Amino acid sequence: MQGALQSSCSVFAPHRLPGPLISPQLRRRGRTSHRKVLCQIELKPPPYPTNALEPHMSREAVEYHWSRHHRSHVDSLNKQIAGTELDGMPLEDIILKSYNKGDLLPSFNHAAQAWNHDFFWQSMKPGGGGHPSGRLLELIERDFGSLERMLMELKAAASTQFGSGWAWLVYKANKLDVGNAVNPLPSEKDNKLVVVKTPNAVNPLVWDYSPLLAIDVWEHAYYLDYENRRVDYVSTFMEKLISWEVVASRLEMAMQRVVERARAEEKQRMDEDDVIIGSREDMEMYLDSDADDSEAE
Ligand SMILES: [Fe+2]
Repeated sequence: MQGALQSSCSVFAPHRLPGPLISPQLRRRGRTSHRKVLCQIELKPPPYPTNALEPHMSREAVEYHWSRHHRSHVDSLNKQIAGTELDGMPLEDIILKSYNKGDLLPSFNHAAQAWNHDFFWQSMKPGGGGHPSGRLLELIERDFGSLERMLMELKAAASTQFGSGWAWLVYKANKLDVGNAVNPLPSEKDNKLVVVKTPNAVNPLVWDYSPLLAIDVWEHAYYLDYENRRVDYVSTFMEKLISWEVVASRLEMAMQRVVERARAEEKQRMDEDDVIIGSREDMEMYLDSDADDSEAE
């Protein structure tokens, strides 16, 4: 999945690291062992210079958002999971595990916000906006009626998310069974594009949706440039910043994922059928041999 963050593992040699870079928890490890494998979720920078989105998103806003908010989620998560069963897992697995069917575990918020922000930076590009094309546009027109209607729905979701949260365009290709999730859509399997909004750190991965586009509507995302005018920020994001190429490539991966899942499910069905047929044949051979023995007697 594009935007996925893996944990990077390295051999921990405490004598080779300067003190301030080692968290207290890691220092404790260092006292008990000379060499351990450490896995840390990485803080990736935005895929463009911090001034590249000007004048729509200022250098100051990007740097503040990335180097303080995004970084703090990554740092806090790494401290939180060090030495736990989550240590070393891919970030997506940490999110699903700590979402805990809606009964959030402590590491969920930092894990999801680390992922959401990386996904958000990659959703934009200098000179973005404009119109999608190809299969992405075809599916938008199929599922929303027109590009304009999809953008209106996305804008409404971003503008009406009360308090902090996110608005998303996602590819939904599942049959939901997610316990006490916050606000999933109905449970029919539908293979379509939908717009959803989520509170706080929640993201659509927890409902097994495939996110294609994210708008951060936490106030820290826009206050420096737009003060309290969230609607202006959302409009500018959609008209000037979206990287439709990235959204299109995420859609291709989401649809490929559906094909691979269908193949895996078909293979599993065939394997189960083979086991049943094999069991029947064994039983028939056993009964036949039993009948032969009776005739011989
Ligand atoms: Fe943010």
